[in-house]
Amino acid sequence: MFINFWYAAELSENVTNEPVAVHMLGQDFVVFRDTAGVAHCLSNVCAHRGAALANGKVAGDCIECPYHGWRYDGDGQCQTIPSLEADAKIPPRARVDAYPTVERYGIVFAFLGDLPEEERPPIMECKEWGQEGWRATTIIFDWDFDYKRSIENALDPAHNEFVHTTHIDKKEDDPFRIPPLDLINHDWGTGFHIEMPAPPMFEEKMRDTAGRDKASIFHIHAGYHGVSSFWTFIEPTPKFIRRQHFYETPVDVGKTRIFTVDMRNAMCDPKDDERMVYMDTLVMDEDAKVLLGIRPVLQPTTNIKENLVQPDSHMAHYREKLKEWTALGWRIDQDEVDRNQMKVAYAIPSPARRTSKHWTLDPLPLIPAATGAATAKVASIGSNVRDRQPE
Ligand code: FES
Ligand SMILES: [Fe+2]
Repeated sequence: MFINFWYAAELSENVTNEPVAVHMLGQDFVVFRDTAGVAHCLSNVCAHRGAALANGKVAGDCIECPYHGWRYDGDGQCQTIPSLEADAKIPPRARVDAYPTVERYGIVFAFLGDLPEEERPPIMECKEWGQEGWRATTIIFDWDFDYKRSIENALDPAHNEFVHTTHIDKKEDDPFRIPPLDLINHDWGTGFHIEMPAPPMFEEKMRDTAGRDKASIFHIHAGYHGVSSFWTFIEPTPKFIRRQHFYETPVDVGKTRIFTVDMRNAMCDPKDDERMVYMDTLVMDEDAKVLLGIRPVLQPTTNIKENLVQPDSHMAHYREKLKEWTALGWRIDQDEVDRNQMKVAYAIPSPARRTSKHWTLDPLPLIPAATGAATAKVASIGSNVRDRQPE
């Protein structure tokens, strides 16, 4: 798991003046909304004696600890210690890490890391959100598989023929050969475009409803953005486009919460939402059935423990990109975290740790950044070679 990316914490509609407990990257957070309607995300561990802030309550613009009533504002600064004399000073270490938040696409995103604003990788964009002629459905999936295995699945064009009934016209005696696919670079990831024979199900059950032209092929664009987001754009015909955006939040090792924002430009009546949700769930269940059985649960430590072939090249590229982000010092040292489980409560370092030394919790252990040649390689990350959106 990696710090220094934006992660989907909770649906906006669920963030109110009641605290919400959220688990991300193996750590605990409390998310709440202040009186001005601003969403906040703080480390959940009270700086006094470690109680879970999410078990407390929102008091005005603060979250109040359930144990002794210390109150922390949205910046994580303790404002009140009820047991002290009224004129007593608040100790400098009476604070918890606070993480930048933004609300987009109906989701509260939290930046879990300490990078200054101008250096933060952006949230994967959903350009169609709120645009006329587009309609959204949003679904949350919770799975016991690792997010990296899920991203790899999205970058694997060869699985569609065997896993999904809705993506391709499957012919037993004439398998679909994956042509060499261009690696399309874009900010913070890569993608590809493939054309596949349209499945019979699409012809029979969907064409008439949307009043579209007859489709003979599906255009599919897919790719990843950062460590744990990916998109799949499916174009059965020019009149019917689905653009699916998957914001995957690593909840813990081997556990993933997927926020799916699915945009479409046809069948935009709200009564069609149910059908879209049904189809997305069907496809996700088909993928999950395979992903839950993959071993090892995490990526193998070396590619030679699998046998990658040409159509796996995009997935292999994602693995290389992860190495580059590891070289930046953003990867959590999970072995060290596991060694200290039960003994140490950690906090993901927040941006304020760059300017202040007064903290109670240890920063989450990270794999040290690389130096020299490896650092030179990571300089290429973020260079925008070609925009991700298809024409
Ligand atoms: S543990 Fe939170 S106020 Fe004491
Ligand atoms: Fe799939």
